[in-house]
Amino acid sequence: MMNFLMCSCVVLLDLVAVHSRVLMQGRIVGGHTAAPNSIKYIVSLQSSRGQHFCGGSLVHRYWVLTAAHCNIRAEHMMIVAGDYIVNNFEGYEQYAKPHRLVPHPLYNRSTNNADIMLIKLRAPMVLNQYVSLVPLPRQGTGVVEGRVCRVSGWGYSRLGEGQARFILRTVRVPIISTARCNSSESFNGNITANMICAGYRTGGRDACKGDSGGPLVCGGRVYGVVSWGNGCGDAKFPGVYTVVSKFRQWINKTIYGSYIRCPKYERNV
Ligand SMILES: *[C@@H]1O[C@H](CO)[C@@H](O)[C@H](O)[C@H]1NC(C)=O
Ligand SMILES: *[C@@H]1O[C@H](CO)[C@@H](O)[C@H](O)[C@H]1NC(C)=O
Ligand SMILES: *[C@@H]1O[C@H](CO)[C@@H](O)[C@H](O)[C@H]1NC(C)=O
Ligand SMILES: *[C@@H]1O[C@H](CO)[C@@H](O)[C@H](O)[C@H]1NC(C)=O
Repeated sequence: MMNFLMCSCVVLLDLVAVHSRVLMQGRIVGGHTAAPNSIKYIVSLQSSRGQHFCGGSLVHRYWVLTAAHCNIRAEHMMIVAGDYIVNNFEGYEQYAKPHRLVPHPLYNRSTNNADIMLIKLRAPMVLNQYVSLVPLPRQGTGVVEGRVCRVSGWGYSRLGEGQARFILRTVRVPIISTARCNSSESFNGNITANMICAGYRTGGRDACKGDSGGPLVCGGRVYGVVSWGNGCGDAKFPGVYTVVSKFRQWINKTIYGSYIRCPKYERNV
């Protein structure tokens, strides 16, 4: 199994510290560069040195949805909205530090189950023509096999000194049935009910390392979070995504749970 994070957290932090060079697999495979600032809900999670390592989606002015395996400690993280070419200042970027990371309590790093995390920002993002929110799916709603969705990200092809500028890329991929994805022909029993697979029978179009945590959007809603796979764009192994609709209640509780209490009691006194 391979997470689509740039590398393991430990390695990442080491990398950041020592500037060592590591060969990384490609980025969004088989897609194309997005039009500038056309995907306004995507954010880049960066290390304190400005190194992109995961994607995320802005679901509230104060909250980012991403993968639990993108959890490097909050003090090492910066969230960038309104970005297009990472490592290149274009003037529309907004930067926020995390106030709090909330990985799902059932996240299991050996099975990748419940690979979902919310990040509360210290300051809200400003919504404008470069930054917007993405709507969430309702609890329990599914996406049917064959439905074509869009995955986007800045997954890189290489790291290290003289890091290239990375332009946001995007690709359309159809949903694959869990029966096929979980079969012995593919992930052989490793797909849980909290996962969904997307890709082509012929492979070639997929998310890849560095795209982790990013959005799989179907009909305008963020149905999936880029989670894991086996290689990238392999016909036998599609991309695996966390099913956001399974976690809608948890998302509501986490986001709104922190706001509801005070106003409600104030009104009642
Ligand atoms: C993760 O899943 C494995 C396999 O189901 C299980 O053995 C292990 O206890 C789980 N770990 C945690 C932390 O829940
Ligand atoms: C399924 O998971 C097991 C245990 O983590 C792993 O050894 C195996 O390689 C995985 N198989 C596939 C096809 O992902
Ligand atoms: C995938 O297969 C394993 C092993 O047969 C099974 O335990 C699991 O429930 C299956 N996943 C889904 C979502 O059906
Ligand atoms: C979550 O909150 C939204 C907005 O308040 C609401 O429309 C939706 O029904 C809630 N869903 C769940 C599962 O609580």
